[in-house]
Amino acid sequence: MTDVVATYYFRPKEGVSPDWAARAIAEEQTTGTWTEISTRQNYVRYLDGRIGDIIPTGQGYTCSITYPSEIFEPGNIPQYLSVVAGNLFGLSRLAAVRLIDVEFSKDIIPFKGPGYGIEGIRKLVGTTDRPHVGTIIKPKVGLNPKDTAEVAYEAAIGGVDLIKDDETLTDQKFCPLNERLPLVMEQLDRVRSESGRNVLYAVNISTAGDKIVERAREAVRMGANMLMIDVIVCGFDAVRAVAEEPGLNLPIHVHRTMHAAITRNREHGIAMRPLCRLVRMLGGDQLHTGTVSGKMEHDVTELRGDNLALTEPFFDLKPVFPVASGGLHPGGVDKEIRLLGRDIILQAGGGIHGHPDGTRAGAAAMRQAVDAAVAGIPPATYAQDHPELKRALDKWGIAN
Ligand code: 3PG
Repeated sequence: MTDVVATYYFRPKEGVSPDWAARAIAEEQTTGTWTEISTRQNYVRYLDGRIGDIIPTGQGYTCSITYPSEIFEPGNIPQYLSVVAGNLFGLSRLAAVRLIDVEFSKDIIPFKGPGYGIEGIRKLVGTTDRPHVGTIIKPKVGLNPKDTAEVAYEAAIGGVDLIKDDETLTDQKFCPLNERLPLVMEQLDRVRSESGRNVLYAVNISTAGDKIVERAREAVRMGANMLMIDVIVCGFDAVRAVAEEPGLNLPIHVHRTMHAAITRNREHGIAMRPLCRLVRMLGGDQLHTGTVSGKMEHDVTELRGDNLALTEPFFDLKPVFPVASGGLHPGGVDKEIRLLGRDIILQAGGGIHGHPDGTRAGAAAMRQAVDAAVAGIPPATYAQDHPELKRALDKWGIAN
């Protein structure tokens, strides 16, 4: 069996040696505890964590800890997380500790991964290599089902490839899922018959652990063509449960609300990278990883590495479509594509519905910005004979 290697950054408190700190992490997560114990028999020691080189990094150190495969119960994601990302974060003699990455071994990936992946989603939409454009219906809550569907129509006919619910819209009284979903799908059918384009709708099925699979089934019965799960608040296993449920067979759009409470601190918590690897293992087809021009805090190098973790060869698991979302607008598209490449979904809520001429024009402007970038034409030049893009750039400017 191949072992699992986790890489940590840590900063010990004053007077605590880096060797002690690394050992404290390794022992806490495997066979030891804060003191010697008489029950740590010799025969359990094969499960000890092995500490790699301790390398000074910034104000602290990085080191890898190798966990023997046997310590993991295959398929039990909560248990995996308890090992690689458990008690260690609370150790009081460490000022900070961050899980940077995990190399999972094939032995503990009894999962099929994404059902569709980038290629499968491109087939559904009918694209070859251009970035996809998505939108989040705004306002995120409050619209009734009929108006939600109308906004979906406008965005779709304007040119988006994907429409999604926002994270706080699930099944509230003002917009019940069983009314919203059929109406949106009806509008997307209309778009197909008018334009020949197939547009996906990621309906938010995020809910309690014991209800999410049933909600996914209901969505399928009502004609959904994509499901959305908020992975941090629902739990990683929710993605697995829905991905593995027989008969559902729909692509899964994975949102990550609340992730920044875990990922944002560069010294403490869990970087996005291990979360990317988990979502890919568990069967997410699309995952939000951030933008390089938008409203959310980001680090370009980390983000590019995160997207690579979703797309580079990883055993036999299909690549996941990275989603750039959060404060994106047509003026940011060129930069996004330059830095993140074409296998990307560029998603804009405010950046589409806030267009001076409305949603349809906003969607057209996003698509024009993508077409310009793909053709290698500067957005301002392309905008000269694309009025929707021109109006968007006049409002929001161009990110550089
Ligand atoms: C998201 O789901 O990423 C946000 O709702 C994006 O909305 P925005 O494009 O208006 O920032």
